[in-house]
Amino acid sequence: MPQHLIAIKDITADALNHIIDRSIEIKKNPAPWHDSLKGRTLAMIFQKTSTRTRFSFEVGMTQLGGHAIFAQTQHTQMGIADIADEGKVISRYADLIMARMRYNADLVAMASGSEVPVINGCDEKYHPAQALADLMTVKEKLSRTEDVKIVYLGIANNVSNSLSMASIYAGARFTLCVPEFDPAAVDEEQLAILRASDRYEETADPIEAVKNADVVYTDTWINMEFFSDPAFADEKERRLKTFMPYQINEDLLKHSGQETLVMHCLPAHKGYEFNETVMYHPNSVVFDQAENRLHAQKGLMLWLLGKI
Ligand code: CP
Ligand code: NVA
Repeated sequence: MPQHLIAIKDITADALNHIIDRSIEIKKNPAPWHDSLKGRTLAMIFQKTSTRTRFSFEVGMTQLGGHAIFAQTQHTQMGIADIADEGKVISRYADLIMARMRYNADLVAMASGSEVPVINGCDEKYHPAQALADLMTVKEKLSRTEDVKIVYLGIANNVSNSLSMASIYAGARFTLCVPEFDPAAVDEEQLAILRASDRYEETADPIEAVKNADVVYTDTWINMEFFSDPAFADEKERRLKTFMPYQINEDLLKHSGQETLVMHCLPAHKGYEFNETVMYHPNSVVFDQAENRLHAQKGLMLWLLGKI
């Protein structure tokens, strides 16, 4: 079976740290890698919308000398065919598959059929490619990940699932500061691993949590597929009230260190998990973080294809 990346726990800590270190090197010195994936194809399959994931994977493949094909599931036969069979067929054409599916179960099915590595481009449970870029950004900015205190505020979700596991793999300390878990994202097996680590903690108190934080991180309280859905309007309203104390804003940053980095996977919802201005705070690294999606994914694709 090929090596897939559906969740961070699919790879080892050594592999994660290797990909991050090599991605930083490749970012600094990209020229030797220009033809490294010449003749190779990445199939990109999207059931949900995207800006960063779509552009960064496609540009990454171009910069490595390969080619990427973009397809939305509604323009494929995935709605009427067995998804494992469709994954197998695509893997007979492409060298890598990256898919953003609504349900993890569909991604797992696709990977079960695929004869080439499948990368999770964000489902309801995980966003591992994001976490690689996040830890890469931390390492670039702080020159280390070891013992760095990363505090995630908001809702426990796909992004925090991948970030927490990647943080522990990278030797960081991780604080999950949430009043609630997204029920669709709960991974009991991973939670048991995290809760057994003395570098992982959970709290519901944001002011206590951000003390001595090296990084404060947040994500949307409402995932993309629900954000504008009228059927989700009441729950959106409820979440707005529940999660507002966990908003990252300048007042909360007064309780963290002067140097605390502000991170967000984007897209940000200003007035929700970020206030209107904190995205542009001097400590915000969100745009470098978004750029690093490109570099980390180049590292990931090279690793999955045995080039690094
Ligand atoms: N962070 C992220 O995955 O962004 P997109 O939804 O725009 O791809
Ligand atoms: N939790 C967010 C991540 C966006 C990249 C979502 O699923 O919409």
